Amino acid sequence: MVLASITCTAPVNIAVIKYWGKRDENIILPLNSSLSGTLHQDDLKTTTTIVASEDYTEDELYLNGKKEDINAVRYQNVLKMIRSRATKLMDKKHCVHIASINNFPTAAGLASSASGYCCLVFSLAQMYGVEGDISAIARLGSGSACRSMYGGFVKWEMGVKEDGSDSIAIQVQPESHWPDMNIIVLVVNDKKKETSSTDGMQKSAATSVMMKERCAVTVPNRMRDIEEAINKKDFQTFGDITMKDSDDFHEVCATTTPPIYYLNDTSRYIMNLIHRYNKLSGSVKCAYTFDAGPNACIYLPAENTTEVLSLFMKHFPGDNIQTYYRGPKENIPSIENFKP
Ligand code: DP6
Repeated sequence: MVLASITCTAPVNIAVIKYWGKRDENIILPLNSSLSGTLHQDDLKTTTTIVASEDYTEDELYLNGKKEDINAVRYQNVLKMIRSRATKLMDKKHCVHIASINNFPTAAGLASSASGYCCLVFSLAQMYGVEGDISAIARLGSGSACRSMYGGFVKWEMGVKEDGSDSIAIQVQPESHWPDMNIIVLVVNDKKKETSSTDGMQKSAATSVMMKERCAVTVPNRMRDIEEAINKKDFQTFGDITMKDSDDFHEVCATTTPPIYYLNDTSRYIMNLIHRYNKLSGSVKCAYTFDAGPNACIYLPAENTTEVLSLFMKHFPGDNIQTYYRGPKENIPSIENFKP
């Protein structure tokens, strides 16, 4: 007998201060705090359906139609934590079947694990009646996932406690604070990346000479300054810090042994184009940021969108330019259907 079913969606977030490196690999505690903007769930999103039934003999999970190993440590950490905090479905013997799909390329540096684990944890938490902060449970699945629990601009406080209870996501400003901020995603390559974020950051933490300074000085200063820029809606400072942090993050990767290169020639062309365009304009009109892949995410004030898009279309005619807008929309992530 089916006991409950639920379908939820959760959006991708794009970091402007990058999370890179862990101090605890098992419960995913970061070496630095980070900050991101959340997209609309109509744009890049994950949709997850969960069914709990007395007839199921084991938990199962399907990602884009392919069966995943539910015994993998991250899935198990999430399921155990959810079940330990459950206020519903507690005394019934049952398992869950989970199906999750992304409406964008998985593992191509487009933050699929962020929306994926956020959606998984949010759906499970609704089904099991988990109360209080759930961003720390999403963090157990994938660090960046905790930031997708909220809309607008969100920081992930690294925290200091060993049990991770203070390593949580906090909303800096809701979407409605800066509704005319847009994001354009330029899909340069949608193939799966060679070095996963998890592996890459582990290698950087162990070998890059830049890590110490980045975690101790650079990121704490940037977190303070970018939060202030967001509060004041100061795009000049916001854009400047965003591009610098992206550049530093890729420099950390390049100074890792063996070096990790996520950017390609097209990514570097886009970076140069944006610097030239901003210089000619005499102000920061748009700002790039690149995660662990070659695809560019461009933050820009809405009023510059037409001009910037036509610039990209001129330089990349016929290429796969996708535009995703942020805007005033609350309740992220959200429930589409729930039958308790
Ligand atoms: C470059 O959250 O995917 O996108 O915690 O190991 O699952 P794990 O890593 P993940 O790393 C994201 C790294 C990044 C920067 C960011 O989103 O802050």
